[in-house]
Amino acid sequence: MTKYGLLLILILFFQDNILLGAEHKYRVGFSQCTTSDLWRQTQLRLMEIELSFYPEIELIVKDANDNTNNQIHQIDELVKSGIDLLIVSPNESKPITPIVEKVYDSGIPVIIIDRKVQTDHYSSFIGGDNFIIGVEAGNYVAKILEGHGKVLEIKGLEGSSPSKERHDGFMSVLKDFPDIEIVKSVSGNWKEESANYLINDALKNGIKFDLVFAHNDAMAKEVRKVTQQYRDTRDIYVIGVDGLPGNNGGIQMVLDNVLNATFMYQTGGALAIQTANDILNNRRVSKQNIIPTITIDKKNAPMLKTQTDQIELLHNKIERQKLLLTIESNKNRTQSIILFFLISVLVLTTALILMIYFNLKSKKTVNKVLVEKNNEIEKQNDLLKKQHEQLKKIDEELQEATQAKLTFFTNISHEFKTPLTLIKGPLENLLEDNMKPADAKKMYQIMYRNTSRLLQMINQLMDFRMVENKKMKIKASENNLEELIADVCESFKTLAEKKHINLSYHFATDQRLIWFDYEKVEKVIFNLLSNAFKFTPANGQVLINVTSFRIDNPGLFSEEVCIEVKDSGEGIPETELPKIFDRFYHTGDSKIIKGTGIGLNFSKELIELHRGRMTVKSKVGEGTSITVCLPVGNLHLVEEEMVKERTAPNNKTSEITILADSELVEDTSIHDHDNQKIPSILIVEDMPDVLEFIRIGLNGDYNIYTATNGEEGIRRVMDKEPDLIISDVMMPEMDGFEMTRKLKSDTKTSHIPIVLLTAKTSVKDKIEGIDGGADFFIEKPFNSTLLKSSINNLLLSRKKLREHYRDTLDFSHSENEINHVDKQFLEKLRKTILENLGNEELNVDELASILGISRVHLYRKVKKLTDMSVSEFVISIKLKKSLEYLRNSGKTITEIAYEAGFSSQSYYTRCFKEQFKISPSDYVKQHRQSN
Ligand code: FRU
Repeated sequence: MTKYGLLLILILFFQDNILLGAEHKYRVGFSQCTTSDLWRQTQLRLMEIELSFYPEIELIVKDANDNTNNQIHQIDELVKSGIDLLIVSPNESKPITPIVEKVYDSGIPVIIIDRKVQTDHYSSFIGGDNFIIGVEAGNYVAKILEGHGKVLEIKGLEGSSPSKERHDGFMSVLKDFPDIEIVKSVSGNWKEESANYLINDALKNGIKFDLVFAHNDAMAKEVRKVTQQYRDTRDIYVIGVDGLPGNNGGIQMVLDNVLNATFMYQTGGALAIQTANDILNNRRVSKQNIIPTITIDKKNAPMLKTQTDQIELLHNKIERQKLLLTIESNKNRTQSIILFFLISVLVLTTALILMIYFNLKSKKTVNKVLVEKNNEIEKQNDLLKKQHEQLKKIDEELQEATQAKLTFFTNISHEFKTPLTLIKGPLENLLEDNMKPADAKKMYQIMYRNTSRLLQMINQLMDFRMVENKKMKIKASENNLEELIADVCESFKTLAEKKHINLSYHFATDQRLIWFDYEKVEKVIFNLLSNAFKFTPANGQVLINVTSFRIDNPGLFSEEVCIEVKDSGEGIPETELPKIFDRFYHTGDSKIIKGTGIGLNFSKELIELHRGRMTVKSKVGEGTSITVCLPVGNLHLVEEEMVKERTAPNNKTSEITILADSELVEDTSIHDHDNQKIPSILIVEDMPDVLEFIRIGLNGDYNIYTATNGEEGIRRVMDKEPDLIISDVMMPEMDGFEMTRKLKSDTKTSHIPIVLLTAKTSVKDKIEGIDGGADFFIEKPFNSTLLKSSINNLLLSRKKLREHYRDTLDFSHSENEINHVDKQFLEKLRKTILENLGNEELNVDELASILGISRVHLYRKVKKLTDMSVSEFVISIKLKKSLEYLRNSGKTITEIAYEAGFSSQSYYTRCFKEQFKISPSDYVKQHRQSN
């Protein structure tokens, strides 16, 4: 739009300032019969001078070159080209008349100038009175010839009105002078050449004349020129018509004696333009405008000359002025054009600037919008990022929660497995019906306890679900807090004694009566004590401190009573602390995995139902303290949460009691019988019920030693050197995996087979067990028979292994069944013996010192691995070596006996026979022959 608007402005500007300035309002056609003579040139010049006062008129001049047909044709063309007015100076009167009438009749104003037409169908006529001119000439001739003489007349063009009228006027005077003779009257066509010819012709023909009347000065001048050449005619009179000003005009000719007189015939050029202007501007004009004439002769010529020169000067001035005006106007025009272009450039530049400005502005606006949009997008991006991060966090939390839930369910399944094992296992044993009555009773007790334990666990789970679904409501009554704490502590008394843990509580406040749901707070304190006991080692202590303090900004309550349960356990790492109240939270340390992971979260929820709070403080190595704070008074409770008296649980013991396990299971030993050594088994298990169940299940076939954790297990292994170890995996202090690793990497114990009882069945756990060197896994809940047969198989394979070691000389090839620590030990022992074959002094002490172990350790190790004493093992190695010599060397038996490190051939032979049930000489016979 802006572009088109600009174009329009430019066009209007261009039209108004450039085109209109150059355009005339009126077109005036001027048909001129000729332009070749001075008179016509003077006429045109005067018209142009006059036109400079009428800039709205444009004059279009057509020269007919003295040809009438030409003129008719040109008038036609002028009309066709579109003119507002026509000026005609007819060549001949008659033939031009129709076209003039036609133009005039068509509505175009017509001005006839100088020569006449034979019609009155024109607007205006301007011209001199040619008849009067003829009269004036006649009078002049009559006077100068004083009434007698000869006259030669050279007329204008035949058919042109001035020629006829001048002649008529002339003759009208001279007819009254009979002595004045017209010797010849001929037509000279207004032309010098014609006059020249005519006068020469007359002279040639001997025509005598005293005066020549030429119808114009141009022909008169030619007459003088010719007659001047002859003495007879040198003094004749010559008169003309026109009397033009200027150096070539008739006035000057009179002054120069070329002419005796001339008659002024004014061109009417200026008047014609003035008349045209009047007509065009609808002003009335006279139809006939006759210009008067005067006779110019010697008397008035100088004065006329001066006047006409003045006029000429003025004309020149006007022309110069006109020229200057033109130059000025051209200059102006140029300036206008320059101005126009400057303005155009300015307008364009302005427009451009405006366009650029608006563009920039719109760009700026667009940019602003874009920047705003960008900012918005960035904001949205940030928001999206934040949302994404939040979602990610939520997702992570969800995953964590899912993982925690999965772990929770895995754990809870494992938790269930133990009591189930202790129900199913004893049941199976009882069903076999070969149990001692005392053992059977114990089995029943185990089953009962574990049934209760299961029930308790299920109740806990249901409580947990209620809290989780916000369905748990409290029923608070005013209770004595000390009574509750004393009660709970009483429940833990036996456990405390058993575990050698000092349990005590202390009240540092007088506040005893608090509003709480007895059953729920009891559960919480019980849970806190259970945890404390779980993590407190033997000889540690568990303390309950009760304090109270006032609230800084009291709301519904102004005082709190706080119960701090403090243990001297391992403590919880600082990084774990914020998580311990999370649902399903479980510390990653397997040593303290016991329980489902809902206890603390559940407890906290129960306390929060009381508008109380629960906090934790812990330091690794020093212990943990968990504090429960309850508001004093009941203003914080709503009516539905309050009851008058506490509702005592009807089955309190089943809800929360410490399900005391079997009494600590003692070692049981059976005396060896029938020279058969009874194998000994160490059971490492922290749960007495499980321990008891395993012990009874093994049914008096083994000597049983017991330990309640890995550390104790290792101590007992060192002490009792059991033939086999059965161990639980998850135990406090040291778990089963760690114990296995330690025992299997120690030469003193590496040979002892270990059976791990595991609740977890993941591949990862098994790999951990295998890597640690465990020999067998039995999954909970397990069957006693399976356990027993597994134990027997393991012991049998060990026995076979021992026999194999006795017969083999190369231990490095034994695979799988033998522990690599044992393999290395045997290999080293064999090499040492072989390297010392010649050394008769090589005894147990020396061997032990070479191997860097104690004599007892060496003895026991060799015995366990090979069932031989050290000296038996040495002899067996020597004998096995001698077999090679017997087969492959040509040496005598005596030589071989010595070489194999025997002190005599008889002792060698005896030992050989004992070991291989064949004499060395027979062995040589058999093997050397067969070779
Ligand atoms: C010029 C002229 C004048 C004369 C007039 C008559 O062409 O011959 O000399 O007076 O015409 O029309």
